[in-house]
Amino acid sequence: MEKFVRVTGAAAPLMRINIDTEVVIPMNRLVAHKRGELGRYCFEAWRYGPDGSENPEFVLNKPRYREARILVAGENFGCGSSREHAVWSLSDFGFRCVIAPSFGDIFYWNCFQNGVLPIRLPENQVKELAAEIETSENAIMTVDLETQSITTPAGRKVAFMGDPERHLALLEGLDEIGMTLKLDSQIRAHQARDRESRPWIYRREETPHVARLLILAGDGIGPEILAEVRRVVEWFIAERHLAVELHEELFGISAWKAHGELMRKETWNAIVAADAILFGAIGSPEYDKIPAEARKVDQLLRMRKELDLFCNLRPVRTLPALSASSTLRPDVIEGCDMMLVRELCGGIYFGTPRGREKLADGSESAVNTCMYTTPEIERIARAAFELARTRSGRVCSVDKANVLPETGGLWRDTVQTLRDRHYPDISLSHMYVDNCAMQLVRAPKQFDVLLTENLFGDILSDCAAMVAGSLGMMPSASMGAVRPDGGCHALYEPIHGSAPDIAGKGIANPLGAIMSFALCLRFSLGLAQEADRLEQAVSAAIAHGARTLDIAQPGEKTISTKAMGDAVLTELKQIQ
Ligand code: IPM
Ligand code: MG
Repeated sequence: MEKFVRVTGAAAPLMRINIDTEVVIPMNRLVAHKRGELGRYCFEAWRYGPDGSENPEFVLNKPRYREARILVAGENFGCGSSREHAVWSLSDFGFRCVIAPSFGDIFYWNCFQNGVLPIRLPENQVKELAAEIETSENAIMTVDLETQSITTPAGRKVAFMGDPERHLALLEGLDEIGMTLKLDSQIRAHQARDRESRPWIYRREETPHVARLLILAGDGIGPEILAEVRRVVEWFIAERHLAVELHEELFGISAWKAHGELMRKETWNAIVAADAILFGAIGSPEYDKIPAEARKVDQLLRMRKELDLFCNLRPVRTLPALSASSTLRPDVIEGCDMMLVRELCGGIYFGTPRGREKLADGSESAVNTCMYTTPEIERIARAAFELARTRSGRVCSVDKANVLPETGGLWRDTVQTLRDRHYPDISLSHMYVDNCAMQLVRAPKQFDVLLTENLFGDILSDCAAMVAGSLGMMPSASMGAVRPDGGCHALYEPIHGSAPDIAGKGIANPLGAIMSFALCLRFSLGLAQEADRLEQAVSAAIAHGARTLDIAQPGEKTISTKAMGDAVLTELKQIQ
């Protein structure tokens, strides 16, 4: 923007009041003409007659004002529509300064944005100026912004005031953005201080962050299926420029064999440092050979609890090509698409007291405790409601409030209260878990988001797997709360187990684990399109006939775990 320091030139008196921006530049010129071309149309209706000829009476057509650079006008100049074009047309005409008793507010600020100085003077002074301009031999004035003074045609000095900040901006030729950029070092210093006190506000947007992915293949079929996931991740790194660092650690029996402990410190540190964990499976008959003390803590449950992975998402979608591999009738499951939202850090899985003890008569007693608090229920319900907002807006909450009015009642009341207070747009229903198990196999399409506590979620998700065709197809995401540093722990795993009976044979279905990586792309890495790409590739592989043993119909050709990985990679290469 051109600096405004001092202007000397003819001043034109236009002492009408309420000069509207429509008079300065008519609406029909706004669209057809750009900035730089608008001077010709400035005051068009007054400057030209209907036939386009100049109106000799209009002040700007008089020879002494033709080159005017200063306009002296009546009160409320620039009122009406807020169009910035009004200032553009004045400045395209040649005006650098407008003096008036008052201005339309937006016009006034638009002047500063466009290098034109507006000066407010008391009405009597403006009138005196106008009279002096008209009667003097010449109409030449000087407006000096540095000294904030006007030198009139007769040589008088008139002082003016104004907003010091705005005046400075004009003197330096800076618009609002320029003024802000001038404060760059102060803004940065403020941000540096703020970043220290509230780091979570900044981390995601500002730190170029290469996400750390940790593979924990685990037991049983885990290593076979995660080997295929690894190939898929590597394809995304090579072909889609996925910015991740990939690490792998032994977990489960393999860790015991290599290190003599189930969870060595290095592995735990890598778990805590990871942005996302790609998990295989846990469980093996070999655990019986490990001292009871060493296996007392279930390492998967420990990760869920210590990383606070409270929100377990289990999408259930029927792939048309697989509807025949379910034991449910195709017409019952076709087109089914639901999301099971399972609370994962509370309830009977973790409640105390728990234990088993010998009684005096030689028999035993055992106890587990189901415990929930309002905040625990609220945070998972909030996750379900937020998710429902991105889907059909329906949530069905599952409990056993008829028999467990304590935990079940608290669950139901808390979910309902949260819905009424903060999610009135969500349609919420409640269902007892026994009925839900039946409805899932009777009419699964009635569900969209299914919200439930830990144990019920475990059971219902296996049940829902039949809707997807096979347990081997089902992915899951376990998400933590947002940490103070802005990050969020997350673990992605297929919902099937370690299947020791088929481990090592190379026949397990890797698609649940591969689809779990798709969830990782979507939720941890924020790459929804890449997630869609991978899900599409999996659907296409199935549609083109790729079948591992678990999803094959009698007589259908089955392929190995690795061949299924190949099939997905082949499809990925096809998708544009
Ligand atoms: C699941 C599994 C786990 C659970 C086991 C392996 C601890 O069945 O994720 O559904 O019970 O939560
Ligand atoms: Mg389970």
